[in-house]
Amino acid sequence: MKGIKIIGTGKYAPENIVTNDDLAKKVETSHDWIVTRTGIEQRHIAADNQATSDLCVPAAQNALSDAGITADDLDLIIVATLSPDKPFPNTATILQRKIGAMKAACFSIEAACTGFVYAMEVASSMVRCGNYKYALVIGAEKLSSQVNWSDRNTCVLFGDGAGAAVIESVDEKDNTLLNSILASDGTHEELLHTAIGGSATPATADNLEDPGRYLQMQGREVFKLAVTNMANSVKKALEEVNLSVDDIDWLIPHQANVRIISAVGDKVGIASEKVFVNVQKYGNTSAATIPIALDELARSGELKRGQILVFVAFGGGFTWGATVLKY
Ligand code: COA
Repeated sequence: MKGIKIIGTGKYAPENIVTNDDLAKKVETSHDWIVTRTGIEQRHIAADNQATSDLCVPAAQNALSDAGITADDLDLIIVATLSPDKPFPNTATILQRKIGAMKAACFSIEAACTGFVYAMEVASSMVRCGNYKYALVIGAEKLSSQVNWSDRNTCVLFGDGAGAAVIESVDEKDNTLLNSILASDGTHEELLHTAIGGSATPATADNLEDPGRYLQMQGREVFKLAVTNMANSVKKALEEVNLSVDDIDWLIPHQANVRIISAVGDKVGIASEKVFVNVQKYGNTSAATIPIALDELARSGELKRGQILVFVAFGGGFTWGATVLKY
């Protein structure tokens, strides 16, 4: 069995910034409502001609250069996304062509906002088995293509972006992945979903105006389940490897809502200075929030090698999970 180490990170957020005041011109909302209920001040929105894979390209290139390797060195690319370029082929293969990583096996994962945590576990397992030396794991979303821009309940919450991490296979004794737990509960499918556009109900000329073509969410129910499951995941992931919350140096939670983040922090019992928050700048970028946050934290210089770092996420499905790393 091999070990894994994150040797590089990167991110990309589209140039176009949409503020809460900009949104208040389109739907009945206000900067104060959005900030008070969510903590979000702005979000980055991709250009019409930017697909999710285009957001991945600079994030991938930043991560590769941070890792000191080239695209040609990659053996594996996994992209976690719920907003792929096309139903198929998968976004990772489209990214492969754009960055020229022609040796890599490529596929995508859809686990909504938990996508990066799932993708990290899959990539780590593959790398630890010894067949892959360098893996690129990306969370990327163009959620602006999924959102109903006339629905104030959802359009204020989401943004576009991509975050990337390069994983290297290392000796077992140097392994940095201490634990990873994944979970799902498919009984709440309709609390957070896009009803139309898949094989169950294909998009047709007849449902062109149906709100079901866009992401829909029962916000209050999602909020409660997110807090409970994220907090329990952190506790369980730590307990399983005999760590306590006091051992955590940094918690990077999925960035959906500052109130969810602080409720999780309170339930876990962690000091707020150890909880990384950047939702105010990006909104909820689903699978991209954790790798974007990881890159910001790593590049700030505050995340040191050897520190205990925990990711925790919750998303549509529902899916949730936590990762414990000795960074
Ligand atoms: N601007 C102004 N008013 C808004 C609004 C907006 N953008 N969106 C909703 N409202 C209104 C609602 O219509 C409701 O009005 P009503 O009481 O007259 O019906 C009122 O604000 C309160 O709505 P409520 O749903 O109770 O607010 P809330 O405190 O639960 O906050 C969310 C709403 C969506 C911010 C919150 O539930 C949330 O963050 N949920 C989780 C979302 C999420 O992160 N999902 C992804 C997880 S992976």
